[in-house]
Amino acid sequence: MSSTGTYNPVMDQIVVTGGARLEGSVSVLGAKNAVLKQMVAMLLAPGVHRLTNVPGILDVELMGKVLDHTGAQCEFYGHTLTVEVPDDLRPEAPLELVRQMRASIIVLGPLLARTGIASVAFPGGDDLGARPIDMHLAGLRALGAEFELEHGTVVGRAPEGLTGAEVDLEFPSVGATENILLAAVLATGETVINNPAREPEIQDLARQLNAMGADISGAGTSRMVVSGVGELHPVDHRVIPDRLEAGTYAVAGAISRGRVRVDNCVPDHLRMELKKLAEAGCGVDRGDDWIEIDGPERPNSVDFATLPFPGFATDMQPQMVALLASGEGTSVVTENLYDARFRYLGELMRMGADVTIEWQHAVIRGTERLSGCPVLAPDIRAGAALVLAGLRADGYTTVSDVQHIDRGYEGFVDRLASLGAVIERRSA
Ligand code: EPU
Repeated sequence: MSSTGTYNPVMDQIVVTGGARLEGSVSVLGAKNAVLKQMVAMLLAPGVHRLTNVPGILDVELMGKVLDHTGAQCEFYGHTLTVEVPDDLRPEAPLELVRQMRASIIVLGPLLARTGIASVAFPGGDDLGARPIDMHLAGLRALGAEFELEHGTVVGRAPEGLTGAEVDLEFPSVGATENILLAAVLATGETVINNPAREPEIQDLARQLNAMGADISGAGTSRMVVSGVGELHPVDHRVIPDRLEAGTYAVAGAISRGRVRVDNCVPDHLRMELKKLAEAGCGVDRGDDWIEIDGPERPNSVDFATLPFPGFATDMQPQMVALLASGEGTSVVTENLYDARFRYLGELMRMGADVTIEWQHAVIRGTERLSGCPVLAPDIRAGAALVLAGLRADGYTTVSDVQHIDRGYEGFVDRLASLGAVIERRSA
């Protein structure tokens, strides 16, 4: 796949000088967590597919490599991704690719559906926790697949093809829902997924698949029904806006005591997050495809718990915690999705945040003054949150390991600078 940029992200640092109030508007791109799965969905139909509104981020480049490995050819130009899928696929995703991006596991279902066999390196845990794939495998087993773990690789076989079944997910896992969906669209007969994930990205994936000729109903509800079809065809599809990117810029406005408008977003995808920003004392205005946040001098304390959509997104938790760390009063934040999502709090505490962690609860006592210092970005969202904390902190905050931020945000530094942030990216 042609590169989305030339950089050596591992060595780069982001340096923020705190104090500037952000003002102005910023436009977000397509949703990372939609586009990655939509790239994989293309493998279900030979021919030339096109996705538009695709962000130029590292994860898209990595998923491009996964597709390349199967024999597909990807071209990325001007936020349009064109993928040519061959008739015959190489049904595997090797460890060096899965290690770089665990979302690669999503090729399991579609490769089984297309070829009857798939070998995908077992994704281990990562910075967010153990992250098992038991529900992916149980769902695909219900459709007739058999799996063995061979030397660190999940080898799946469906010699008789896949057959529709009723699958009860004990938790609405995004990835498991997608893997099952991507297998069920070409299976024989009807598949029912009870308690699927209801995220907007799942709904957009279903829209793309239906345009390709699939028969899916109930996306966005607690029961999805998929009637298998014989074949699918390529389509052009525009990716929905990234609610997490939009939410991150909204918090940037709030934490800097500024006024920021985020364009090209879907405010309804951020209902809970906007509700909590309003509780924190932010002015929140919204139109059909924009939101505007007016940051308070000191945010109020707010309690929240992360939950699957439409609950508060775990991928907005670190940004919101950065805001509350500079607020008044004590906030209690409960993380229900990941066992290690609070790891970044050690870095935030180095900046002066007053936080105590008790199991999956963080107690945040707001402090008037955060203080810039060198910090490490442990994952995409925590990395972004540390940059946001730097907007508020005294002096310089130097964020290293910025390759994590590049995974999910196109032009993060430039976009923040366009809003008036004093920020730059430096090559070490
Ligand atoms: N889980 C299991 N077993 C499974 C699958 C999941 O126990 O078979 C657990 C996970 O360990 C985790 C929880 O269920 O504790 C939620 O996992 P889920 O499957 O819903 O998440 P995912 O598909 O692995 C996607 C996003 C994440 C986002 C989560 C939750 C992509 C590529 N990733 O991950 O996004 O946090 O849904 O909304 O879509 C990010 O963008 O920064 C990011 C981490």
